[in-house]
Amino acid sequence: MPRIVVLRLGHRPSRDKRITTHVCLVARAFGAEGVYISGVRDASIHSTLEKVTATWGGDFWVEFVSSPMKVIDKWKESGGVVAHLTMYGIQIKQARDLIPSDRDLLVVVGGEKVPSEYYEKADFNVAVGNQPHSEVAALAIFLDRATGGAWEGMRFKSARLRIVPSERGKNVEQCPSNKKAFSDH
Ligand SMILES: C[S@@+](CC[C@H](N)C(=O)[O-])C[C@H]1O[C@@H](n2cnc3c(N)ncnc32)[C@H](O)[C@@H]1O
Repeated sequence: MPRIVVLRLGHRPSRDKRITTHVCLVARAFGAEGVYISGVRDASIHSTLEKVTATWGGDFWVEFVSSPMKVIDKWKESGGVVAHLTMYGIQIKQARDLIPSDRDLLVVVGGEKVPSEYYEKADFNVAVGNQPHSEVAALAIFLDRATGGAWEGMRFKSARLRIVPSERGKNVEQCPSNKKAFSDH
């Protein structure tokens, strides 16, 4: 199964702490293996995601990078595809037919203003509707389409807790530590 990784551009701790954390949580929940973050380093994002992963499982990673362009270049050199999410891009319906599903996918999401080089470097500039909204919403919808909804069957290994879906209230159970209750993510 091809890899999916997210690159979040231009993190500013003073303004983006929750948004960048939510980008990471959405990436994890909807099938990406990790997130590269450019901008100002922010240890609180690491610690939040570590706590989430310790409780709910999986091997999700977060890495701050000083040169996001290098990440893109390396990704392309190793045969991967780059999709940049922007309201100015092609429609997601069209992108689904164009983006090869058998190649590793780097999904780039911006912050305040994304420099034009990213539009040029990306293999695909993809719009989730041509109205401005949020990188969190754009990423969730894009990953749902890119995985064809496969995130729904995803399992998170070594989880401490798991939710038993229920009509009302919260039903949470401990995962047996000696059993690989959640595997293959
Ligand atoms: C605050 S928005 C800035 C909107 C920006 N003018 C743009 O190009 O989409 C921050 C990020 O959200 C994402 N985003 C917002 N609206 C989007 C849309 N309609 N389609 C795809 N991505 C979107 C983009 O990744 C963008 O860099």
